[in-house]
Amino acid sequence: MNVHYTSLGLVNTRMMFAGAIRGGFAVPAYNFNNMEQLQAIILACLETQSPVIIQVSKGARDYADRTLLLHMGRGAVEMMKREAAEKGAGEIPIALHLDHGDSYDLCVSCIESGFSSVMIDGSHLPYEENATLTRKVADFAHLHDVTVEGELGILAGVEDEVSAAAHTYTRPEEVEDFVSRTGVDSLAISIGTSHGAYKFKAGQTPALRLDILHEIERRIPGFPIVLHGSSSIPREAVDTINRYGGRLKDSAGIPEEQLREAARSAVCKINIDSDGRLIMTAKIREIFALKPEEFDPRKYLGPAREALFFLYRSKNLKVLGSAGQAPEIMGAIKDDALVNCR
Ligand code: G3H
Ligand code: 13P
Ligand code: ZN
Repeated sequence: MNVHYTSLGLVNTRMMFAGAIRGGFAVPAYNFNNMEQLQAIILACLETQSPVIIQVSKGARDYADRTLLLHMGRGAVEMMKREAAEKGAGEIPIALHLDHGDSYDLCVSCIESGFSSVMIDGSHLPYEENATLTRKVADFAHLHDVTVEGELGILAGVEDEVSAAAHTYTRPEEVEDFVSRTGVDSLAISIGTSHGAYKFKAGQTPALRLDILHEIERRIPGFPIVLHGSSSIPREAVDTINRYGGRLKDSAGIPEEQLREAARSAVCKINIDSDGRLIMTAKIREIFALKPEEFDPRKYLGPAREALFFLYRSKNLKVLGSAGQAPEIMGAIKDDALVNCR
């Protein structure tokens, strides 16, 4: 199966990131595994007129099925267009991205099945090997006008099924060489964020190393930076989960003000997965506890989807600054297409 993302109505991330650098915001990159998550993401981004990157990990691709995912990508665009027409709203740009791709073959497979953007995560490899692998993926991806995210530095916690006890912060002195040698379109960095619901130990002050971010920006001005592990781990969701039988202890996330500050800088893409998982789980646990007679999945997945919608809407409006940015990016994508077909 060889399907180019443009035939699905998707876009790559280039114009999104150019807009994010100009406008001082970050494009949301929300992970999904299923239909309800995808619906909530698209509807929240359409309502807030935000560009969006819908992303799937290798595990999510196996879970959702690669063929079905291709059609979900197409369906996301078609649903967005129909909803936009019905509401008299503008259309929004949607990119389908592979999150934490761990091999050249996986990236190629995604590119050949409709992804418009891939991450090759060689961050656990020695520097030279990371650069070589990333270059190989970028060379293939660019033949298809697919954008590529690389990574330097390792986030603490579980990343790509590899766990690291402590952060290996990105070394600013490596970034110029890495981006010029690999040809990547964006770079994920490690400045103190981490994956999952336990980002800081009890008593630890949640703080990002914005000094490292600023030094990286100084060395590669205007180059799009990506922050992984950027969930804020909402207290209310954790409390609801625990109230209704869950057992999440000492969870902690990245304060939203710090993410907002990062989004104003060269950080162009902010990855959020765990917050959605928590919001969904909280709502489902609440319904199971309060309405034990319910057994129609729509009666708990529907409210979970609605809770997710409000989460994403609030992120776009209050944290990422991406609300209202879609029209300019859509305009730039159309202008670019016109220039290229001349
Ligand atoms: O970076 C990790 C993302 O949250 C995806 O997690 O591999 O469990 O789908 P996953
Ligand atoms: P969170 O676990 O903080 O949501 O991070 C998600 C992520 O980085 C996906 O790549
Ligand atoms: Zn990640």
